[in-house]
Amino acid sequence: FYHFLTRLSPVFLIFYKLLACYASHMLKTISSLDFEGQKVLLRLDLNAPISNGQIQDDTRLQAALPTIKFLSENGAKVLILTHLGRPKGEIVESLRVDIIASALSKLLSKDVNKLDDCVDEVVKKQIDEMDFGDIVLLENTRFHPEEKLNDPEFSKELASLADIFVNDAFGVVHRSHASTLGVTEHLPSYAGFLLEKEIEVLSDILKAPQTPVCLIMGGAKIDTKIGVLEKFLDKADSFLIGGALANTFIAAKGFEVGTSLFQEDKVDVAKDFMSKCEATFIPVDFVVSEEISKDAVARNLLQNEATSNDKILDIGPKTIDVFLEKIASAKTIIWNGPMGLYEFDQFAKGTLAIAQAVADSDAISVVGGGDSIDAIKNFNIPLDAFTHVSTGGGAMLEFLEGKPLPALQALMS
Ligand code: 3PG
Repeated sequence: FYHFLTRLSPVFLIFYKLLACYASHMLKTISSLDFEGQKVLLRLDLNAPISNGQIQDDTRLQAALPTIKFLSENGAKVLILTHLGRPKGEIVESLRVDIIASALSKLLSKDVNKLDDCVDEVVKKQIDEMDFGDIVLLENTRFHPEEKLNDPEFSKELASLADIFVNDAFGVVHRSHASTLGVTEHLPSYAGFLLEKEIEVLSDILKAPQTPVCLIMGGAKIDTKIGVLEKFLDKADSFLIGGALANTFIAAKGFEVGTSLFQEDKVDVAKDFMSKCEATFIPVDFVVSEEISKDAVARNLLQNEATSNDKILDIGPKTIDVFLEKIASAKTIIWNGPMGLYEFDQFAKGTLAIAQAVADSDAISVVGGGDSIDAIKNFNIPLDAFTHVSTGGGAMLEFLEGKPLPALQALMS
C-alpha cells in the first residue's frame, strides 16, 4: 500500500515520513484510558524540601494532585512511588515519606496510607486489601540500592505490584532508575498530566520560540548549564549570566573573584562560550562581602574592583539595569537559577529584580530549578505570574539541552 501510494506521489512520501516521524514520538498519555479495577503504579517526584520536620515547599505535591485524583476517581488502586533526598541505598529515618503521605492526605482530603516498603510480600498483601479508588504512598524508593542501579530484578518486583505504570515525575525523568525506567519494561507505561504538560511547554520553546529569546542562567555550577547555553546559541538573543555561575565567567575575563564560589577548572569552558556568543551578558558590577552571614556588610563594586578577600554574592545595580532591558524586550524568557545569595536580604536584590521583571513581562516565561522557585515564593511573587513553573531542575536543563532521556523515551508510542 505504501509503495503504491509513494509511486503515485513523491509529495506523499515526504508527508508520510513526516507523519510517521511525528507519530513515533508521541507521548502515551492517560486521559482516554480506562483505569476502573486497575492497580496503577504512579511514579511521582515528591522530593520536597523538609526542615525541622516540616515541608518547606509543597509545589511538587500540588502539581501531582490532578493525576492522583484522576486515577483514584476513575476507579484505580493508586500506588504512589517517590524518592526523597539522596539516602544512598540505605534506610535514613529522616527521609521516610510519612510526612509526604500526611501532606497528600490533607491536600486530597482523603486518606493516603504510607506503606513501610516499596516492594515485598507484606506490601503486596496490603495492596490486595485496598479498595479501588484508594491511594497509598510506598516508602522511599532510594532506600534500596537497586533503585539507582536500575536493577532488573528490583524493577520486576516493583512492576509486579501493578497492572499499569504511570510516570508523572518530571523532576526525575532524566534519571534512568528502576522506578522511572526499569518498570517500563514490564508494564504498559504512560505519562501523567504533569509530565505531559512539562514536555509540551518545553518542546514548544525548543521548536519554535517566539523571538527575541532571553536565557537567564544563575545558580552555582557551569557543568549543568553549559549544555543549555550551547543548545541555545542559535536560538537565544541574549544570555544573562548571574549567580556563582557568573563568577566563572568573570574569572574567564581575567578579573579577580577573590574567595567567591567559582569553578576554576571550567574557566576555559566559559571563555570558549563567550568567544562564540557575543550576546553573553555577565555582571558589570556586583555586591560583595568578606563573609556570609545575616549581618554581613555588603559593598557594591565594579567588575574589576574585587580584591582577594571579597566574595561575590549578588549582581549589582548596573547589571540589573542591563538585564532588565533585555528581559523587557524578550518575547520568550527561560530562567533557571538565582542571581545571588537570595536567602540574605543584602544579597537578594538581584534575584528579586529579575524575578519581578520576568513575572511582570508579557513574554512566554518558563522558570525552573528549586532555588529559583524558592526565591520567587520568598518574595511573595505568585507562581501564576509566569507562563510555566517547571517542577524539574536538572530534568528541565537536560530536556532543553536535548540530552536523550530514556525514562521519557520509554513512554513514547
Ligand atoms: C530534584 O530535586 O531535582 C529531583 O527530585 C531529582 O533529584 P536527584 O537530583 O536527587 O535525582
